[in-house]
Amino acid sequence: MCGIVGYIGRKSAIDILLEGLTSLEYRGYDSSGIAVNIDGKIKLYKAAGKLQNLKDIVDKDYREVSKSTIGIGHIRWATHGAPTVENAHPHSCNCGRLAVVHNGIIENFKELKEKLEKKGCVFRSQTDTETVAHLVAAKFAETKDLTEAVRLATKEIEGAYALCVIHQDVKDTIVATRRNAPLVVGLGEGENFVASDVPALIQYTKKAMYIEDNQIVTLTPDTIDLIDIDKKKVNQKFETLPWEPVALSKMGYKHFMLKEIHEQPDVVRNVLSGKLRAIDEPIVLKEVTLDKEKLKNLSRIQIVACGTSLHAAMVGKYLIEDFCGIAVDVEPSSEYIYRKTITDKNTLVIGVSQSGETADTITAIRQAKSRGSHILIVTNRPDSTMAREADSLVPVNAGIEVSVAATKSYMAQLISFYLLAIYMAEVKGIKDLETLKHELIILPQKIEKILAHKEEIQKCARTFANSKDFIFIARGINFPTALEGALKLKEISYINATGYTAGELKHGPIAMLDESMPVLSILMTGKVYEKMLSNSEEAKARNAKMIALTDSTDSNLYELFDSLIHIPPISEILSPALAVVPLQLLAYYIAEFLGKDVDQPRNLAKSVTVE
Ligand code: M6R
Repeated sequence: MCGIVGYIGRKSAIDILLEGLTSLEYRGYDSSGIAVNIDGKIKLYKAAGKLQNLKDIVDKDYREVSKSTIGIGHIRWATHGAPTVENAHPHSCNCGRLAVVHNGIIENFKELKEKLEKKGCVFRSQTDTETVAHLVAAKFAETKDLTEAVRLATKEIEGAYALCVIHQDVKDTIVATRRNAPLVVGLGEGENFVASDVPALIQYTKKAMYIEDNQIVTLTPDTIDLIDIDKKKVNQKFETLPWEPVALSKMGYKHFMLKEIHEQPDVVRNVLSGKLRAIDEPIVLKEVTLDKEKLKNLSRIQIVACGTSLHAAMVGKYLIEDFCGIAVDVEPSSEYIYRKTITDKNTLVIGVSQSGETADTITAIRQAKSRGSHILIVTNRPDSTMAREADSLVPVNAGIEVSVAATKSYMAQLISFYLLAIYMAEVKGIKDLETLKHELIILPQKIEKILAHKEEIQKCARTFANSKDFIFIARGINFPTALEGALKLKEISYINATGYTAGELKHGPIAMLDESMPVLSILMTGKVYEKMLSNSEEAKARNAKMIALTDSTDSNLYELFDSLIHIPPISEILSPALAVVPLQLLAYYIAEFLGKDVDQPRNLAKSVTVE
């Protein structure tokens, strides 16, 4: 989703801004822009479409632009108004002396706009953000103090925002603030940075401070001042970021998605490391602080998440119910927050999020927290808003995921749920999970086998790449795998793909089957194997093109299925962690075959910071 970067120092700002924006590109966007100060005047450069379009415009004016040692930049994922040049950020006021970039949504922008128009402000865009530009400019006209102008403006703004503001009358100053949207400041020597996410500044500094809601930070090349909304000074807490810039390199792979799929064996090892020490030792989850007596007496668990994280949560439900006998509800965060949900202090609420910044999930956990529930967060970003607001944490350790389509973070979430479910079972005194622990330890080798022999998957991708629709069917613990396989395919290839429980096929979806419809059966040996075979027969009888993803070596399957994708044998309970890998690859190879923008699919954002 939108990204912000700001630089103030003694170097030319432009390259730093453009590199910062490039490192945020993966989040998904549809226009971009920068504001710099050239010879005492604010100048804006904006472009619709890819960042390269902005770079081309800037290039034409490079000698002038490179004079500026201050600047703010933005990539925009359109919410209010189409992705045009006029709607691209930065936005300005009537006099053009100020520039603002914004992530989030200003919910009361209509009321603010009406008031501002009455005072003579002329709006040039359809965005909610432009109201902030006019509002801060009006406050600055009264106070002649940019920090104070931003502070007063935030008192009138409702909604979610991370904002960065510069003004040509206040040279060498960037003012930034946030509410319900991430913002981080990077400390340099004779220079300072601000951004909506770490990748934009990690190559310049590892010393960073996360800004909290309603704090206002004022940056000059040599100083950083932090106050709260009541003007009180706030203690500055800088930390050393554990990140390496190399994490953002494709390392020879054609796409980040392919690289991230191949990282999964190591991701599993990382997640297990220090937590699963030996099969006869209990699981160690240091950051789970829920009192063990309370855990034993939990009445229910609710898990909230979105997209791929929701699918990991569905596997988690299956595991916790199976191992621990505690009732688990899984719900998309965006639904959970708009109905009367029954939670109390005996309910554990688990939020799952790769980014830790998904607005719907943040709101859901805040609601649950206000009702007294213990909040446990499963996230890939221990530095995120969710992690910082959690009572307990399960850090998933997948490393930064650049491709918009989640792959390795899903794997890490799944493995974290296996660990969490075993941990809870062990706290409850259930001890017969040693076989599963052993299987978890050898899982990376099985994933490596799939990655080393991709021929069946590539062949299947070539055969079905031109399909208009795709159906994935499964039962039991692999139903979420079917949903995830379908989500991956539609996200990056734009093929209409849907996951169904195989038993539901005959209650409606079977009407769609004919010779043009591929049906992929997730056919794992175990208790639903025979039933899956029957459901596949039913689809075959309607002339559907049948594909099996299976750990069975039964040669009779060649009679029923047109294509087969084999994976190493695995227990049914752990099979979601193996079966998803060929589905990620299938989606990847189909999208690649179709020439799609694999890492940055249209309309999607890596981190969805609006509700
Ligand atoms: O950061 P989160 O895990 O909270 O994000 C949730 C979804 O937006 C995300 O999983 C999305 O569905 C991905 N594009 C999946 O590939």
